[in-house]
Amino acid sequence: MTEPWWKSSVVYQIYPRSFADSNGDGVGDLQGIRGRLDHLAWLGVDAIWLSPFYRSPMADFGYDVSDYCDVDPLFGTLADFDELVADAHALGIRVIIDWVPNHTSDQHPWFIDARSSLSAEHRDWYVWRDQTTDGAPPNNWVQTWTEDQPTWTIDPTTDQWYLHLFLPQQPDLNWRNPQVVAAMHDVLRFWLDRGVDGFRMDVLHALGKDTDLVDDPPELLPIPHSALNHHPSTYELVQGLRSVLEEYDGDRMMVGEIFLLDTALVASYYDGGQGVHLAFNFPPLYTPWDAGLWRHRVEEVAREIDPQGWPSWVLSNHDQPRHRTRYGTEARARAAAVLMLGLRGTAFLYAGEEFGLEDGVIPANRVVDPGGRDGCRAPIPWTAASDHDWGTDDPWLPWPPDAASRNGEVARADETSIVHLYRRLLAERRASAALHIGSQELLDAPAGVLAWDRADGTDRRRLAVNFTSEPVSLGSLATGWLLAVSTDGLGEGSPFGGELGPDQAVVLRPA
Ligand code: NOJ
Repeated sequence: MTEPWWKSSVVYQIYPRSFADSNGDGVGDLQGIRGRLDHLAWLGVDAIWLSPFYRSPMADFGYDVSDYCDVDPLFGTLADFDELVADAHALGIRVIIDWVPNHTSDQHPWFIDARSSLSAEHRDWYVWRDQTTDGAPPNNWVQTWTEDQPTWTIDPTTDQWYLHLFLPQQPDLNWRNPQVVAAMHDVLRFWLDRGVDGFRMDVLHALGKDTDLVDDPPELLPIPHSALNHHPSTYELVQGLRSVLEEYDGDRMMVGEIFLLDTALVASYYDGGQGVHLAFNFPPLYTPWDAGLWRHRVEEVAREIDPQGWPSWVLSNHDQPRHRTRYGTEARARAAAVLMLGLRGTAFLYAGEEFGLEDGVIPANRVVDPGGRDGCRAPIPWTAASDHDWGTDDPWLPWPPDAASRNGEVARADETSIVHLYRRLLAERRASAALHIGSQELLDAPAGVLAWDRADGTDRRRLAVNFTSEPVSLGSLATGWLLAVSTDGLGEGSPFGGELGPDQAVVLRPA
């Protein structure tokens, strides 16, 4: 039986604003991405995921969409998009795009109409509530990022509250309205017809909402409602999305952003094979660099997600400090690459992690994101030149630290750099069924070490990560193995000596 492509894949997330700029305006664009596909083919990724490039007033940098079926002029045109997809496919790289179903921009024609009167055609496409005499909002749900504010804003024209789990400029769609469901299904078809291989679905767990608007438990406040919303009506909505994808051939895939920090709840959105193909599971991303804590996470995923569906792993994205920054050293970032590319599941890389980029340091007068996420969105420096191949020295956000020495050009020219480690790991993973699709078994290992086996038929690999800054001997675990990939690049292809250096991680092949 052949497995769908997305199970064995390594997906590379591109935040278009920050990736590569073709026209020197300081904001990345689709032609910029197209110009860097050769890097991604060289690296060996299977697919790219593009964060939003749709028309948007950019209150949330594209996660506030005012036209789901067009490209914002800042990023290019639909023709540019078609060229990008064609070129990526010619290189064997699939294309996944972001889809933002929970909310539109307040500048979307649907909301402009909806807010115009109580009887507007699109009024019921959003969630409205009457004012009460005490002037209090309809319930105690709090906004994301501005947690002292309700998820409700009064619209003066009709004097009712509208719901927005994120910014007031991002009104929530009413997914109980079949017209909303039909219109959003058509958006999926628009892009499926253009040849996309799947979607990353933004805050998917938030679509179905409690019509009684029951308060969040006061003891959980000020956790934003966007991280708590979990309503059974969402499962049927997700099944509907899946059936749209199944109208098409080619194993089109959806990966849901399920931002609920509970792996069992995340697992439920796989819905026994009727729900998402993949879900982001964020508890590991929030887990400190510690072997015991990570063992717990790996066991939890095996217990909760594996029986329902296929796991996914992610350490960095456009919403969180980069793991290179969180874990503090490049040595740990290298070990983390072995960890996430060696665990059973689909791996999601975030552009720039292959160069070991740290978060940008953003001076107060350059802060632009309402959620404080500018650091991880610093532009990728591609060369050592002062414009780092952006055509301007002054892009929309400052460069990440040490861009003159830490950039794509310098990293690729140095065989000992982290990008070559990523490339060797991807090649090993692609060549080994044990690594890209095989079973997984955690091993008893010395304190501070996580070790596990992967197997598919006769193909076997053993992996070990030293989470400590001390050398450690693997003892009998090391007997009979060759070093396939090592974080320091030394001795690959030779028998493994059995000792892991500080922060070292290895992939081993049977001798
Ligand atoms: C999750 C996205 O990853 C984030 O960037 C965005 O701000 C929110 N959803 C709202 O769309």
